[in-house]
Amino acid sequence: MADFIVRVNGSEKKVSVSPETPLLWVLRDTLELTGTKFGCGAGFCGACTVHVEGEPIRSCSTPVSQIAGKNVTTIEGLGANGLHVLQQAWIAEEVPQCGYCQTGQIMTAAALLSKTPHPSDDQITQAMNGNLCRCGTYERIRKAIHRASAPAAAPGGTR
Ligand code: FES
Ligand code: FES
Repeated sequence: MADFIVRVNGSEKKVSVSPETPLLWVLRDTLELTGTKFGCGAGFCGACTVHVEGEPIRSCSTPVSQIAGKNVTTIEGLGANGLHVLQQAWIAEEVPQCGYCQTGQIMTAAALLSKTPHPSDDQITQAMNGNLCRCGTYERIRKAIHRASAPAAAPGGTR
Protein backbone atom coordinates (compact mmCIF):
# COMPACT_ATOMS: atom_id res chain seq x y z
CA MET A 1 0.00 0.00 0.00
CA ALA A 2 1.05 3.57 -0.66
CA ASP A 3 -0.54 7.00 -0.46
CA PHE A 4 -1.39 8.83 -3.67
CA ILE A 5 -2.89 12.24 -4.30
CA VAL A 6 -5.51 11.95 -7.00
CA ARG A 7 -7.09 15.08 -8.47
CA VAL A 8 -10.57 14.12 -9.55
CA ASN A 9 -13.12 16.59 -10.91
CA GLY A 10 -11.26 19.50 -9.36
CA SER A 11 -10.81 18.05 -5.86
CA GLU A 12 -7.69 16.51 -4.40
CA LYS A 13 -8.14 13.16 -2.69
CA LYS A 14 -5.59 11.08 -0.82
CA VAL A 15 -5.99 7.36 -1.40
CA SER A 16 -4.08 4.48 0.18
CA VAL A 17 -3.89 1.63 -2.30
CA SER A 18 -1.37 -0.59 -4.02
CA PRO A 19 0.47 1.29 -6.80
CA GLU A 20 -0.77 -1.13 -9.45
CA THR A 21 -4.44 -0.67 -8.52
CA PRO A 22 -6.35 0.32 -11.66
CA LEU A 23 -7.66 3.88 -11.58
CA LEU A 24 -11.12 2.43 -12.26
CA TRP A 25 -11.20 0.69 -8.89
CA VAL A 26 -9.95 3.79 -7.10
CA LEU A 27 -12.73 5.82 -8.71
CA ARG A 28 -15.49 3.30 -8.11
CA ASP A 29 -14.53 1.59 -4.85
CA THR A 30 -12.43 4.16 -2.99
CA LEU A 31 -14.00 7.43 -4.16
CA GLU A 32 -17.48 6.00 -4.86
CA LEU A 33 -17.67 7.61 -8.29
CA THR A 34 -19.62 4.80 -9.90
CA GLY A 35 -20.54 6.61 -13.11
CA THR A 36 -17.45 5.10 -14.74
CA LYS A 37 -18.18 1.53 -15.77
CA PHE A 38 -16.30 -1.75 -15.82
CA GLY A 39 -16.74 -3.57 -19.13
CA CYS A 40 -13.96 -5.88 -20.28
CA GLY A 41 -11.32 -4.88 -17.72
CA ALA A 42 -8.65 -5.37 -20.36
CA GLY A 43 -8.51 -2.16 -22.36
CA PHE A 44 -10.69 -3.36 -25.26
CA CYS A 45 -14.17 -1.84 -24.88
CA GLY A 46 -13.83 1.77 -23.69
CA ALA A 47 -16.60 1.56 -21.07
CA CYS A 48 -14.18 2.79 -18.40
CA THR A 49 -13.00 5.91 -20.29
CA VAL A 50 -12.14 8.98 -18.23
CA HIS A 51 -9.99 12.01 -19.03
CA VAL A 52 -6.49 12.50 -17.66
CA GLU A 53 -5.27 16.02 -18.42
CA GLY A 54 -8.04 16.19 -21.01
CA GLU A 55 -7.03 13.03 -22.86
CA PRO A 56 -9.31 9.98 -22.92
CA ILE A 57 -7.73 6.98 -21.20
CA ARG A 58 -8.89 3.53 -20.12
CA SER A 59 -9.11 3.57 -16.37
CA CYS A 60 -9.32 -0.24 -16.13
CA SER A 61 -5.79 -0.60 -17.40
CA THR A 62 -4.16 2.52 -15.97
CA PRO A 63 -2.43 2.00 -12.62
CA VAL A 64 -3.18 4.70 -10.09
CA SER A 65 0.58 5.30 -9.72
CA GLN A 66 0.62 6.66 -13.30
CA ILE A 67 -1.94 9.38 -12.65
CA ALA A 68 -0.81 10.62 -9.25
CA GLY A 69 -0.96 14.42 -9.23
CA LYS A 70 -2.67 14.60 -12.64
CA ASN A 71 -6.13 16.00 -13.30
CA VAL A 72 -8.76 13.32 -13.80
CA THR A 73 -12.27 14.07 -15.06
CA THR A 74 -15.06 11.54 -14.81
CA ILE A 75 -18.63 11.67 -16.09
CA GLU A 76 -19.62 13.19 -12.74
CA GLY A 77 -17.24 16.08 -13.36
CA LEU A 78 -18.31 16.52 -16.98
CA GLY A 79 -21.84 17.35 -15.87
CA ALA A 80 -20.97 19.10 -12.63
CA ASN A 81 -22.09 22.55 -13.80
CA GLY A 82 -25.25 21.45 -15.57
CA LEU A 83 -25.60 18.90 -18.30
CA HIS A 84 -22.75 18.98 -20.80
CA VAL A 85 -23.87 19.77 -24.34
CA LEU A 86 -23.19 16.13 -25.24
CA GLN A 87 -25.37 14.87 -22.40
CA GLN A 88 -28.15 17.13 -23.67
CA ALA A 89 -27.70 15.79 -27.19
CA TRP A 90 -27.66 12.19 -25.88
CA ILE A 91 -31.05 12.81 -24.27
CA ALA A 92 -32.45 14.52 -27.36
CA GLU A 93 -31.36 11.68 -29.64
CA GLU A 94 -32.39 8.99 -27.11
CA VAL A 95 -29.02 7.33 -27.58
CA PRO A 96 -28.74 4.76 -24.76
CA GLN A 97 -30.21 1.30 -24.88
CA CYS A 98 -28.92 -0.74 -21.93
CA GLY A 99 -26.69 2.25 -21.14
CA TYR A 100 -23.66 0.30 -20.05
CA CYS A 101 -21.19 1.70 -22.57
CA GLN A 102 -22.57 5.21 -22.59
CA THR A 103 -20.34 6.86 -19.99
CA GLY A 104 -17.31 5.84 -21.98
CA GLN A 105 -18.91 6.94 -25.25
CA ILE A 106 -19.68 10.40 -23.86
CA MET A 107 -16.23 10.85 -22.34
CA THR A 108 -14.56 9.89 -25.62
CA ALA A 109 -16.89 12.20 -27.56
CA ALA A 110 -16.17 15.05 -25.12
CA ALA A 111 -12.44 14.68 -25.69
CA LEU A 112 -13.08 14.75 -29.45
CA LEU A 113 -15.17 17.93 -29.30
CA SER A 114 -12.69 19.70 -27.06
CA LYS A 115 -10.10 19.40 -29.85
CA THR A 116 -12.37 19.25 -32.89
CA PRO A 117 -15.52 21.26 -32.19
CA HIS A 118 -17.18 20.37 -35.53
CA PRO A 119 -16.01 16.87 -36.45
CA SER A 120 -16.75 15.23 -39.79
CA ASP A 121 -18.22 11.74 -40.01
CA ASP A 122 -14.74 10.37 -40.60
CA GLN A 123 -13.33 12.18 -37.57
CA ILE A 124 -16.17 10.82 -35.42
CA THR A 125 -15.57 7.31 -36.70
CA GLN A 126 -11.87 7.56 -36.00
CA ALA A 127 -12.29 8.99 -32.50
CA MET A 128 -15.10 6.66 -31.42
CA ASN A 129 -13.74 3.52 -33.04
CA GLY A 130 -12.46 1.98 -29.81
CA ASN A 131 -15.69 2.40 -27.82
CA LEU A 132 -17.81 -0.69 -28.27
CA CYS A 133 -21.58 -0.85 -27.87
CA ARG A 134 -23.11 -4.30 -27.72
CA CYS A 135 -26.55 -2.73 -28.27
CA GLY A 136 -25.46 -1.14 -31.54
CA THR A 137 -26.29 2.49 -30.75
CA TYR A 138 -23.54 3.74 -33.04
CA GLU A 139 -25.73 5.73 -35.42
CA ARG A 140 -27.53 7.52 -32.60
CA ILE A 141 -24.14 8.32 -31.02
CA ARG A 142 -23.04 9.84 -34.34
CA LYS A 143 -26.22 11.92 -34.56
CA ALA A 144 -25.82 13.11 -30.98
CA ILE A 145 -22.23 14.20 -31.60
CA HIS A 146 -23.32 16.13 -34.69
CA ARG A 147 -26.15 17.70 -32.70
CA ALA A 148 -23.79 18.71 -29.90
CA SER A 149 -21.33 20.20 -32.36
CA ALA A 150 -23.92 22.23 -34.26
CA PRO A 151 -23.41 26.00 -33.71
CA ALA A 152 -26.83 26.39 -32.03
CA ALA A 153 -25.90 23.79 -29.41
CA ALA A 154 -22.98 25.70 -27.95
CA PRO A 155 -24.76 28.25 -25.72
CA GLY A 156 -26.88 25.60 -23.99
CA GLY A 157 -24.13 23.57 -22.42
CA THR A 158 -20.55 23.42 -21.30
CA ARG A 159 -17.64 21.96 -23.14
S1 FES B 1 -13.43 -1.84 -19.08
FE1 FES B 1 -11.74 -0.66 -19.64
S2 FES B 1 -11.55 -0.90 -21.79
FE2 FES B 1 -13.17 -2.26 -21.20
S1 FES C 1 -26.13 0.92 -24.91
FE1 FES C 1 -25.90 -1.17 -24.33
S2 FES C 1 -23.78 -1.53 -24.61
FE2 FES C 1 -24.08 0.41 -25.48
